[in-house]
Amino acid sequence: MSHLPPELLHALGEIVGPAGLIEDEAAMQAYLSDWRNAYRGRAALVVRPASREEVAAVVRACHQAGVALVPQGGNTGLCGGSIPDESGRQVVLSLTRMTRIRQVDPANETITVEAGVILQRLQEAAADVGRLFPLSLGAEGSCTIGGNLATNAGGTAVLRYGNMRDLTLGLEVVLPDGRIWDGLRGLRKDNTGYDLKHLFIGSEGTLGIITAAVLKLYPAVRSRTTAWVALPSPQAAVDLIGRMRALCGDRLTGFELMSRQSVEFVLRHVAGCNDPFGEVHPWYVLIELSDTLPEAPLNAMLETGLGEALERGEVLDAVVAGSEAQVAALWKMREGISEAQNHEGPSLKHDISVPVSSIPAFIEAADRQLQEAFAGVRIVAYGHVGDGNLHYNISKPPSSEDAPFKAQAEAIMHVIYRVTCDFAGSISAEHGLGQAKREAARHYKQPLELELMRSIKQSMDPAGLMNPGKLL
Ligand code: FAD
Ligand code: MLT
Ligand code: ZN
Repeated sequence: MSHLPPELLHALGEIVGPAGLIEDEAAMQAYLSDWRNAYRGRAALVVRPASREEVAAVVRACHQAGVALVPQGGNTGLCGGSIPDESGRQVVLSLTRMTRIRQVDPANETITVEAGVILQRLQEAAADVGRLFPLSLGAEGSCTIGGNLATNAGGTAVLRYGNMRDLTLGLEVVLPDGRIWDGLRGLRKDNTGYDLKHLFIGSEGTLGIITAAVLKLYPAVRSRTTAWVALPSPQAAVDLIGRMRALCGDRLTGFELMSRQSVEFVLRHVAGCNDPFGEVHPWYVLIELSDTLPEAPLNAMLETGLGEALERGEVLDAVVAGSEAQVAALWKMREGISEAQNHEGPSLKHDISVPVSSIPAFIEAADRQLQEAFAGVRIVAYGHVGDGNLHYNISKPPSSEDAPFKAQAEAIMHVIYRVTCDFAGSISAEHGLGQAKREAARHYKQPLELELMRSIKQSMDPAGLMNPGKLL
């Protein structure tokens, strides 16, 4: 029996038709828990509008009835932002039927897409016109552009191209009262006051529903080289990225750090992954160079940089991929870490950032404090080190039960976030606050920043119906 007033249920049915409503408990389940099964909620209904007009009509009807909405894309988010609460009174608004690529404008180097387009499909559409859409992340086969925008997603190419904020020129948004803001401008220059699109990017569905976006395209990559490199320490990684940047400039498009623990999990759980080296090393980086020229001397550059680093002891060993299959195999080792960690029992995710120069000291301090206070926990540190962004994830000790580890989760988190703040860092570099970090943000964000954020929320969504309980 739905918690919704019958007249609202009827109105929503009229707006989206039978294909756009999911009322059945069993059919709703996929929308009510996240990829890791770390968050679970209940909903009065899942509604799946197929156009911006339908989204606007749904939002208007819910606004009039005082019913809260939880926007959802591919449901790959890692902080519970797309999962409703447990009241069973919220409506999940899924954008997965809004899948049109509205316009490709190669001369303007832009593409206009709807919010439900899967990231990988957008990458393919860009490739079809000889362009690159550079956002790239492990969930690209299922996450949506709306979700990427709402979380200001990062991923493995931020080093060269920036995050979703940097890739966006215009947005179309349904506001909390159902009005449509058409900000779909493909302009690289527009100084007519506050840049409203940036309010919605990274707002995690709390200010409105993003229905479409104009995104930047880049020249297609025509050559690339990829290496898997063993290192003695995180400091060696920071030294190496500086060396490679000086040598290769913008051709350095990927630089991903991984601890041995992370790689061990992948070797244990992800089929087809093999250690490229005969011996165990403490740290690894995956380096990628790319260029728009088909014959760019990338291998020579890589060999020069790695050769110098080997001589100085900054690099212990390296393999360079000799084929596209080997490139894919190396990336699979990196991108498989999230999945592999799921097989090791409960885990705690902390996607922190600090200045790149502070990464080694952060790891040293956080490792030491955790090991002193929580013996046996496994630290799974990896990530986008060139952006100063580490996934400093924690898995339970192999021999312990789940419950005692879960009971320590909050204390572990505070140790990590305190160290993050000691280095003037952020408690969320890319996944957002959602429900996971909402409370923590109260401790670790400046009170004035929170006050400004609350006043923006209050002025745009005074009834508090857009994704309540998330972010703020
Ligand atoms: P959802 O999970 O459905 O939603 C995420 C948030 O956005 C929620 O708060 C939701 O309410 C809101 N939202 C969704 N659509 C809209 C919309 N149209 N309008 C308004 N609000 C909306 N993230 C990174 O940044 N970098 C990574 O490298 C990365 N790697 C990942 C690897 C794996 C294996 C997985 C599972 C996730 C990874 N993520 C990463 C996290 C996640 O994929 C991204 O945050 C992604 O951008 C979420 O997109 P989604 O469509 O799944 O959004
Ligand atoms: C990644 O970069 O692989 C994800 O953002 C990290 C994660 O799953 O914790
Ligand atoms: Zn990441």
